[in-house]
Amino acid sequence: MVVRARTAVPGTECFARHLGGQERASFALDLTSDQRLTTNDRVPRMKIDILTIFPDFFRGPLDYGIVRRARETGLVEIAIHDLRAFTKDKHRTVDDRPFGGGEGMVLKPEPIFECLESLGDVASREMRLRAGAPQSVILLSAQGRRLDQTLAAELSALSQTGKGRIVLICGRYEGVDERISEHLADREVSIGDYVLSGGELGAAVIVDTVTRLIPGAVGNQNSTRQESFTESCSGQTELAGDGPSSTCVSGGLLDYPHYTRPAEYRGMEVPEVLVNGNHEQIRSWRRKTALAKTLRNRPDLLQRVRLTAEDEEFLAQIKLDQGTDRDEARPVSTKD
Ligand code: ADE
Repeated sequence: MVVRARTAVPGTECFARHLGGQERASFALDLTSDQRLTTNDRVPRMKIDILTIFPDFFRGPLDYGIVRRARETGLVEIAIHDLRAFTKDKHRTVDDRPFGGGEGMVLKPEPIFECLESLGDVASREMRLRAGAPQSVILLSAQGRRLDQTLAAELSALSQTGKGRIVLICGRYEGVDERISEHLADREVSIGDYVLSGGELGAAVIVDTVTRLIPGAVGNQNSTRQESFTESCSGQTELAGDGPSSTCVSGGLLDYPHYTRPAEYRGMEVPEVLVNGNHEQIRSWRRKTALAKTLRNRPDLLQRVRLTAEDEEFLAQIKLDQGTDRDEARPVSTKD
């Protein structure tokens, strides 16, 4: 990961100190050659730029697991850009009071416009809005379209062009000058119906969800297809190798429960059906428990899923087991 800062404006001591060797070096989160897993020099499938007033925030979240590995193997290249480096005053001011009065401060447009313009190779907003464009500039904000797996997949698909690029602009909760949304970003995205103090967490969430969907990022690509919210199949058995594959997609339902060894822990036992080796029974148990969990935690999802006759039967049985026909929240047994 690279943290970029603009070259210093002469005469601004504080600014110069910030950009000077020591502080700037501590921002260098780029991978060392030891950390790069491959020796190839392939072009990353996806470039992600994050524009933020808190560049240090990203030291941790993007340095672990799948995202780290994707960076190491060159599938994704992430650069963090410090918006304060694009201010011109000695206080490195990035926000100002809102026109018309009111509480809070609003992020100023200039550092954001100038930072984006400094990136190079970012297509105009008009080009980015065209169908099939490989780039997207996203403003993170509570007012945006809510992120879901469909949007994550759409963004991840930009990588298939070989020229995929996503720029994430982290707003602050009080607001960002609307000209960013109107004239610079091509979309506004929220990660959920709650207000965060800024877009940084949202940006990290987008990087994670998008990266893991890039082909090659996850060891077993099938595993990203079976997770909750994946809507491509309705519970068919997929037999692979010596057992039901864990790739039985959940078809828009929440994922089924998972267990691993030990089979018994402090008196809590793994459902018998999972250890008996009967693939059809395992498939059926997984579908039923996925339905049960969805009914309990996200009944709204059931309205959008194509339910099979078997699903309907399962649901009726689950409701009966719960002693109710109402969709009310009750603990659901995952025992077979
Ligand atoms: N900034 C503030 N709240 C946010 C949210 N819910 N999603 C993304 N960015 C935000």
